[in-house]
Amino acid sequence: MQEKLQSIQARVMEQLDQAADTAALEQIRVTVLGKKGELTGILRSMGQLPPEERPVMGQKVNELRAQIEEKMAEREAVLREREKAIKLEKESIDVTMPVEDRTMGAMHPCSIVLDQLLTIFTGMGFEVVEGPEVEYDHYNFELLNLPKNHPARDAQDTFYVDDNIVLRTHTSPVQARIMTTRKPPIRIVCPGRTYRVDEADATHSPVFQQIEGLVIDENITMSDLKGTLDTFARHLYGEGITTRFRPSHFPFTEPSAEVDLTCANCKGAGCRVCKGTGWIEVLGAGMVNPKVLEMCGIDPEKYTGFAFGIGIERITMLKYSVPNMKYLWENDVRFLKQFR
Ligand code: DAH
Repeated sequence: MQEKLQSIQARVMEQLDQAADTAALEQIRVTVLGKKGELTGILRSMGQLPPEERPVMGQKVNELRAQIEEKMAEREAVLREREKAIKLEKESIDVTMPVEDRTMGAMHPCSIVLDQLLTIFTGMGFEVVEGPEVEYDHYNFELLNLPKNHPARDAQDTFYVDDNIVLRTHTSPVQARIMTTRKPPIRIVCPGRTYRVDEADATHSPVFQQIEGLVIDENITMSDLKGTLDTFARHLYGEGITTRFRPSHFPFTEPSAEVDLTCANCKGAGCRVCKGTGWIEVLGAGMVNPKVLEMCGIDPEKYTGFAFGIGIERITMLKYSVPNMKYLWENDVRFLKQFR
């Protein structure tokens, strides 16, 4: 029995030294120390020994068991470390590997320009408001001094929903909505989509966007309008850009003006973009017609105001030299990704 113990000791110690991984260790534990293991077997068979030899033998078996367990724990620590290192090695990531190319989105050029316009106007103290795109005839036309059968209605080819409801043909109805619900001083801009029955071509689309401005207070004059639009022009295109007012007619303003900006392309010298004139027409404006003030419940004896309406697509096309409006709504990524 003594010899058997010695041979187990010699064999197991060597096996432990050679065990390649923790699974091998576990295998050794089962065959030697497990319920049906060799040492356990020896303990069981001790009944066959003469009684005086049993304690000595029992002690030897237990010493060997302790020795094996200690060695096994040491070996296990070493192997665990090694296995961890292997695992980490396998999981390591090469950060220099090329990555899959993910397409980044970009702001639409009209959104870039609109953001810029809003920054300019809020910087001058304007509040941003919105109104509905499906609008009452009352706000889109009537309150703006465009009664039914007014010839100027023909200039705005209107999508009618029914006799009294239209898709707004401009952002001007928001002026009427604000004037009928607020008291001066009023200083608002209103961006949004507008609709007209138009064939889509290089400069037209049935859906387009405008930004409307309205200021009403005591002693507001045309020079306030001029100063506001000059400031707008300078912030949009830089120093040296100013406005030129040409007489025009809108039923809701009196007097009315078409407003040109210095051509940003040639700084006024005359080029292909401005057809040699040095000016580009970008918006309509004027002093709010006293009749409109009155219809909207504002006393025209006490208050005056100015208003303007700017085409967002037009400004965008000028700013980025976009030759055809269709690029703005086709959403061809080759066009859009230039604005990243
Ligand atoms: N509503 C006009 C249009 O759609 C633009 C416009 C002109 C707006 C003069 C105004 C204005 O507020 O005062 O063509």
